[in-house]
Amino acid sequence: MSKLTRFTNEQAPHIEEVMVRFVTEQTSDPRLAESMLYSIHAGGKRIRPLLLVATVAAFDKPIDLPVYQCAAALEMIHTYSLIHDDLPAMDDDDLRRGKPTNHVVYGEALAILAGDGLLTAAFQLLSMADIEADKKILLLQQLSQSAGTKGMVAGQAADIQGENQTLTLDELMAIHARKTGELIRFAVVAGGVLANQSETVLQELDQFAQHIGLAFQIRDDLLDVISTTEALGKVVHRDDALAKSTYPALLGLEGAKAELTKELALAQQILAHLSAYGQFDPTVLSAFIERFEVEENQ
Ligand code: IPE
Ligand code: IPE
Ligand code: MG
Ligand code: MG
Ligand code: MG
Repeated sequence: MSKLTRFTNEQAPHIEEVMVRFVTEQTSDPRLAESMLYSIHAGGKRIRPLLLVATVAAFDKPIDLPVYQCAAALEMIHTYSLIHDDLPAMDDDDLRRGKPTNHVVYGEALAILAGDGLLTAAFQLLSMADIEADKKILLLQQLSQSAGTKGMVAGQAADIQGENQTLTLDELMAIHARKTGELIRFAVVAGGVLANQSETVLQELDQFAQHIGLAFQIRDDLLDVISTTEALGKVVHRDDALAKSTYPALLGLEGAKAELTKELALAQQILAHLSAYGQFDPTVLSAFIERFEVEENQ
């Protein structure tokens, strides 16, 4: 078993337990709780919370409950973003994480509310974590910025408005950086904050995260073209059907793959540089991003 698989198998259940317990304890309406838990239990790769935990671990700092609570809050926001992304008014998707989408099972009204609930509960959870006050306020600010109207929500707005448009590469990068990059950026930078790292190190982590965040959405765009519904757990070729602005649409498959490889190489370079400070083991983070390379049949 690879170090990354072992890490994932060890860590993901802790993140999931925190999400499930919090939603169960803090939601008074049973049907609302059921719809929130449906999307949490549907699975997902848990990339963002695992990156957060892996960043803390890379600095050889303890993975305690507050780290899992911060990671769980991030995954709750990501899960809400997917519920809303799949709504008929947005990407209108029927399959997510290998299961019918939330609105297909619970109806649009409850799906919207499940998203609202997960978003709000995420901040409630992080605000209640046993983290030193200054640090906790910083994390809450960073998470709200990354998730919000300069971050993921802004990226989603630009994505919808980018349908049926030919954008420049810079415009497309700016959409990807916000709709997907920002939550990944939070994952890595929050890991550094929780591991008490200096401003210099946090800035390097931020650069690293910006490269992998962009790479992750380029990869998602590529997989929509070259992968299968069974492998992804979501219906493929949707971007083309919705006339989305994507990397493959703009640069072609080979051009998009080249951009993905370039971003991943830049990320690896930053990891190597961070290792030079000592007290930083890049093994798991590096293995994570190796997995972002796309191969056929993925
Ligand atoms: C899908 O994210 C949406 C994007 C931002 C690309 P993931 O590929 O991380 O989805 P799950 O959480 O594994 O389902
Ligand atoms: C979604 O991007 C990004 C989010 C903020 C949810 P996509 O619309 O490409 O994600 P998928 O392909 O539906 O997972
Ligand atoms: Mg979308
Ligand atoms: Mg979508
Ligand atoms: Mg996609």
